[in-house]
Amino acid sequence: MNNEATKNAAEKFAALIEEQLKRVEMMKAQGDFVDYANKDNIIIGICGGDGIGPIITGEAQRMLEFLLADEVAAGKISFKVIDGLTIENRVEKLKAIPDDVLAELKACDVILKGPTTTPQKGDGRPNIESANVAMRKELDLFANVRPVKVPEKGIDWVIFRENTEGGYAIGSEGINVTEDLAFDFVVTTKQGSTRIAELAYDYARKNGYTRVSLVTKANVIKTTDGNFLEDCHKVADNYPEITTDEWYADIMTAKLIDEKRRKDFQILLLPNLYGDIISDEAAEFQGGVGTAGAANLGKKYAMFEAIHGSAPRMIAEGRGCYADPCSMLRAAAMLLSHIGYQEKSDKLTRALDICSFEEKKLTITGRNTGCTCEEFGNYVMETIKGL
Ligand code: IPM
Ligand code: MG
Repeated sequence: MNNEATKNAAEKFAALIEEQLKRVEMMKAQGDFVDYANKDNIIIGICGGDGIGPIITGEAQRMLEFLLADEVAAGKISFKVIDGLTIENRVEKLKAIPDDVLAELKACDVILKGPTTTPQKGDGRPNIESANVAMRKELDLFANVRPVKVPEKGIDWVIFRENTEGGYAIGSEGINVTEDLAFDFVVTTKQGSTRIAELAYDYARKNGYTRVSLVTKANVIKTTDGNFLEDCHKVADNYPEITTDEWYADIMTAKLIDEKRRKDFQILLLPNLYGDIISDEAAEFQGGVGTAGAANLGKKYAMFEAIHGSAPRMIAEGRGCYADPCSMLRAAAMLLSHIGYQEKSDKLTRALDICSFEEKKLTITGRNTGCTCEEFGNYVMETIKGL
């Protein structure tokens, strides 16, 4: 290797490989999921983020405080508000998640997180990693579960997006070899693919789903997507009652708008980037990304969030108070279910369905033609009281 640029790039690549091999060892050593039933006190971290984040997260916090009032009084649940995940603070500290904020997050059991602004190349901000992506990696939240339901159209999908690997694992550590040549990396591990597949198939079995669709581009991205498929099939062998089929991500985006075929899909299991893209498409059928929440699950921690970004334009145009809280309220419902309060979770989900799809006494439009975020929150709360 006599070319200096090649040598430098190879050294950087070697360091990335070492880092990923360490991660594999960490995954091998991992135990089982925490059991919340055995915890005396569950700490719920509330992290508003930035843009419309604090507004819609505040609404979801108010709902959780309302639904969990007895548990808080009995000392079984406590809330911990975590500031400092704002773009200003992250830019100032030049860290995706400043150290003190990360320590506070790690002191929680579960986290409700509002959207955070992600710097991108050319926007004048330093090239720090997305706080979302960093949190998923730091807390090893390997499963991004994104349900989409539109009962009148027969849509009932649950997307299991691998959340720590693929194009995201070292997405901020691509290499500019020369001025002309750049590389990014896609990472897949046997442990990473197996654990998300096990969670997806387990969920299918426990919730009566009969089909899991694997979505990749293994016809082109042959090694990493090919391995992902292979590892998912190995897990599928343990679930003979569940049908497994394979789709390429491009045709899947088409089939999701095919009214005759899309009703047949149930669980979609996919690598990180395809999951990111397809979950936005899927959410659009339900009324847009503003209506969709997500669970980010790991063995030790779990984080619940909206699937959309921080909408800085809404803030710049003074429309923040009209932001739709439904994504964060759905996220709050998933949080309740995850920590064992299924009945409360069902109530919140039921009230959201009534307010959003059935009664529709108030509508959110994102501007002053609709109700405010707080008014919608009150509407959902009143509906819960009537259930
Ligand atoms: C999401 C978002 C994030 C992602 C962005 C904000 C980095 O689009 O949660 O889907 O790509 O994962
Ligand atoms: Mg996304």
